Order: sequence, then C-alpha cells, then structure tokens
Amino acid sequence: MVQTKVGIDAGGTLTKIAYQTNGSIRYQSVPSADMEYTVEWLSSQLDNPDVCVTGGKSELLTKKWQAPAKTMVEFDATTKGIEFLANHQDQALVEPFLFVNVGTGTSIHVVNDGKQERTGGSGIGGGTLMGLAQLTTGIHDYKQIVQLAGNGNRGNVDLKVKDIFEGTLSPISGDLTASNFGKTEKMAAYAPENADILASITGMIGEVIVSITIPTAMQYNVDQMVYIGSSFRMNRLLRETVSKYTIMLEKTPIFLEKGEYSGAVGAMLSID
Ligand SMILES: Nc1ncnc2c1ncn2[C@@H]1O[C@H](COP(=O)(O)OP(=O)(O)OP(=O)(O)O)[C@@H](O)[C@H]1O
Ligand SMILES: [Mg+2]
Repeated sequence: MVQTKVGIDAGGTLTKIAYQTNGSIRYQSVPSADMEYTVEWLSSQLDNPDVCVTGGKSELLTKKWQAPAKTMVEFDATTKGIEFLANHQDQALVEPFLFVNVGTGTSIHVVNDGKQERTGGSGIGGGTLMGLAQLTTGIHDYKQIVQLAGNGNRGNVDLKVKDIFEGTLSPISGDLTASNFGKTEKMAAYAPENADILASITGMIGEVIVSITIPTAMQYNVDQMVYIGSSFRMNRLLRETVSKYTIMLEKTPIFLEKGEYSGAVGAMLSID
C-alpha cells in the first residue's frame, strides 16, 4: 500500500500540515491547542500516513499520535521548505539570504550553502498582534482583526516625523513613524476606532521586525529577506509595512506562496 508522506509543523499557535497525494501537495492548518483534533484528522483523512513532525510542540503531538513518526529540527525543516517553495514559484534565492519567520514570535536566520544559522529573534510576532488586539479591543478572532486593521487609519494613533517637524523640513522622511501610539493629544480629543488601533499594532509589529532584522542583513551582506509565517496570512497591512520598510532600507523583500508551510513542507520532504 502506498504511504502518504505527511510533514507537520506543530507551532506555538498553529499546526501546519503538508501532505502529498497523487503527486500534488495539499495544505491544512489547525490550532495547536487542539492536538486531539490534529491526530483525529490525520487518521481519518489520510491513508497509511508516513509522518515527520517538527516545531516546538512536536513532542506533544508525537505522544498523542500513537504510531511511528520521525522528528526533525524545525530550523532545518524550514530551510528545506523555503528552498522548495521558492523553486516552485520560480523565485531565485541568492545565498546568503535571510529568512524571518513571523510566527507566534519571530525568529531570524541566515542561510548559506543550504545551511541555516539562527542569528536572533524577538518576542514581537503574530502572538503580539493577537494579544494586544485582545487587550485593546477585546477582539479575539484573527480574521476579524486583520480585516479591521486593513481598514484602519494609523494617522489617528501614530505620530509621524512630520507631525513633530511642523512647518520645518525634517532631517529624515516625514512619513516615518516618530512614535508608535504616540499621537496622545489627538487620542485625548477623539478616541480612535478599533480599526485604527489594530492598524497601529500591525504597523508597529512590522516596523519592529524590519528594524531588528536589518542589522543582521548588513552584517551578513545579504540582499534578500524571505518573510514567512502565518502572521502574513490574509494580512495585507503587515506585508505592506514589512515590504515598504525593507525596500526603504535597500533590501529585497520576498514572500513565498504558502510560506507559512515551510517547516511542514521541509519535514515532508525529509521522508524518503
Ligand atoms: N486562523 C488563525 N488563528 C490564529 N492565528 C492565526 C490564524 N491565521 C494566522 N494567524 C496568525 O499567525 C500567527 C501564528 O503564526 P505561525 O503559525 O507561523 O506560528 P507558530 O508556528 O504557531 O508559532 P512559533 O513558530 O512561534 O512556535 C498567530 O499568532 C496569528 O497572528
Ligand atoms: Mg512556527
């Protein structure tokens, strides 16, 4: 009986599954909080699965999955997956390049000779969007958060350089953010809408991610920055912010189709 090759990246928030059937790759993601569901899904949807698991919650998953499963180091799986997905969409990657995985948190890696090295990271990531959204607006639903953020106006919350340099020429672009959430005077007069708050949170996360990544890109003389992670899913504003800042700092942003499945794809490909 033919085995279905299945790669699973069990992350802090979402469990990403990539599997091969009839020569094509399919993708599925489920909340990591519901491991039982993932295990049920695997046994009910897939014939005779041959499983390789990666990600921070792989131990938890392999314990529940009471059949043999390989495990793999997440960062290596991700590198393998990135190379495959880039190739799949005819995106040439020139080494050394960086990949920035914006998951629950953010992890930064440099890739050279097909091998990755983790150079840093930040607790500012997709979990920060979820948590701050919940604290400030009471909204929990990811789709609702990103939809609202996409329609918000950061100008009601964030202070731009040109807001400070009123009437005089500023030494840097007036459009840059001078202070995230810094427009306190205006906020005292008109309470910003939830959409504005969510847009500002998203903007801040994007700006922080690029700011902490750029020194690494310079250190390793890298041009391409590959941004992956489910935090970019449906999130046009985060992509745009990250793209704009990366380009402004003279680097090339790359977003991969299904990039959030890089770890799962790499794990799947490691099954021989
Ligand atoms: N359906 C969804 N439900 C919850 N969060 C989602 C959803 N879709 C996208 N996200 C966003 O994606 C983020 C998680 O990204 P990702 O799946 O890459 O992380 P992870 O692998 O679970 O975490 P980590 O790699 O840090 O362990 C969430 O914090 C949220 O911002
Ligand atoms: Mg992850």
